[in-house]
Amino acid sequence: MNNGISITNHRNGETYEFNIINSTRGPNAVDIRDFFKKTGMFTFDPGYTSTASCKSEITFIDGGKGELRYRGIPIEELAGKHTYLEVCYLLLNSKLPSPDELLDFDIELRHRSFLHRGLHKLFDAFPDNAHPMATLSAATTALASFYKEHINLTSSDDFNKMAHRIISKIPTIAAFSYRHSLGIPFIEPNIELSFTENFLFMMRAYPGGKMHIDRQGERSIKEIEIKALDTIFTLHADHEQNASTTVVRNVASTGAHPYVAISSGIAALWGRAHGGANESVISQLEMIGSVNNVEKYIKKAKDPNDPFRLMGFGHRVYKNFDPRAKILKKLQDELKSELNLNTELLEIASKIEDIALNDEYFISRNLYPNIDFYTGIILTALQIPKSMFTPIFVIGRTVGWITQWVEFKREEKSKISRPRQLYIGK
Ligand code: SDX
Repeated sequence: MNNGISITNHRNGETYEFNIINSTRGPNAVDIRDFFKKTGMFTFDPGYTSTASCKSEITFIDGGKGELRYRGIPIEELAGKHTYLEVCYLLLNSKLPSPDELLDFDIELRHRSFLHRGLHKLFDAFPDNAHPMATLSAATTALASFYKEHINLTSSDDFNKMAHRIISKIPTIAAFSYRHSLGIPFIEPNIELSFTENFLFMMRAYPGGKMHIDRQGERSIKEIEIKALDTIFTLHADHEQNASTTVVRNVASTGAHPYVAISSGIAALWGRAHGGANESVISQLEMIGSVNNVEKYIKKAKDPNDPFRLMGFGHRVYKNFDPRAKILKKLQDELKSELNLNTELLEIASKIEDIALNDEYFISRNLYPNIDFYTGIILTALQIPKSMFTPIFVIGRTVGWITQWVEFKREEKSKISRPRQLYIGK
C-alpha cells in the first residue's frame, strides 16, 4: 500500500502515485520530481506559494503560529540574548560557539573587514546620489574578481574563508557606499571594535577616528545603540526560501562565483515588495504625514483598483504576527525612553496598526505588520538615513545567503534551477 498520494486525471481516467517526503517539523512534501514524466503535464505554481524548492536544515518558519527558528532555536531565545556574531556562527556551524570559538571567529572577521585598495576606486564610478544598494551590489560583484580562487567544495577551510570574508566585508562596503553618497572620506574598519559597533563607527566617525563633538563633548556610540542594531542584524539573518535567497540558490545552481550569487541576492532584496519595504515604510509614514490622514490611506490600501499598499504589512508565509515584528515592537518601547524616537512617525504607525488589525479587509487576508514595519523607526532613532535601511538588511542577511549557498553546494545532486512554463501563446 503506497503511503503516498494518488492523483487521478479525469480526462483520461489514469491515476498516478506520488511519494510523500516527511519533514522533521512543519508540512511534509509530495515528491513530484517525476510528475511530468508520469503525467505529461506540469504543475502550475507562479510565486511558488505551495512549492518546496529544496530541503533545508537552516531556518524554520511556521506562518500560522508566527514562529521562526534558526537551526531549531526559537528567535526569541536568540535576538537580544546572543550577539549577532554568535547567531552567524550558529547558522554557519549548526551550533552556538564556545567562548574560544567565538573569540577566534570574531578576530578573523575583524581582520577580514578591510577592502582591497583597488575596490575603493569602484565607488568613484558612481554619482554621489547613487542609492547605496546600487554600489553595494556592484562592489559585491567586484569582490568576485578580487577573490578568484576556485573554492574547493570539499574543504571546510575554503568554505569558512569564503563565507567569513563576505560576512566581514559587506558592512565595510555598505558604510563606504553611505560615505560616498555624502561625498565624505571613507573611514576604515577599526579592529578594536565589535562587528556592530565597527559598522556604526565607519558610518559616523570623522577622519582621524574622532566621533561627533557637541557642547557635551564627544558623542561616542552608545551601548544601547549597538545592542539595538545587533538585534536588528540577528532578526534579519535568515528566513528560509524568501525571494532573494531563492535568487542566491538559483545563481548557485549555475556554478557562478558565490559573491556574484550574493550580489544577485542584494539586487533582489532591493525591491519594495521585499527588503526595500523598510525604506518604503518610513517614506510612506512621512507621506501620510499625520494621524488625521491615516483613514484615507487605509481606504486606498483596501481599494482593489488602487495600487497603493501598506508597506510593512502582509507576508507570504506569516498569516499571524511576524515574530520579528513582535521583538522589534518591544525593542521600540525600550528605546522610547533611551533614544529620541520620532514620536510623530510612531503615532502614525501605531494608528495604522490599530485600525488595520481591527479591519475586516486585513483580518480576512491575514495581513499583519511584518519585520519592515518597525525597523525603520528604530533605525531612524539611531540616526541612520532611510537610504541605508535596506543595506542594513543586507548586512544582517548575508550570513543567511551564504549559509544557504553552502547548503545548496553540499547537496549531493544539486541540479541547475530550471522551471518550465504553461505556454499560452500562438
Ligand atoms: C520581507 O519572504 C520573506 O520571508 C520576506 C522577508 C524576509 O525576511 O526575507 O520576510 C522580508 O520581504 C517582508 C515583506 C516586506 N514587504 C512589504 O511590506 C510590502 C507590502 N506587502 C505586500 O506587498 C505583500 O504583503 C507581500 C509581498 C509581502 C506578500 O505578498 P503575497 O503573499 O503574494 O500576497 P498577495 O500579494 O497575493 O496579497 C494577498 C491579498 C491581496 O488582496 P486580494 O487580491 O486577495 O484582494 O492581500 C492584499 C493583496 O492585495 N495585500 C495587501 C497588502 N499585502 C497584501 N493589501 C494592502 N496592503 C498590503 N501591504
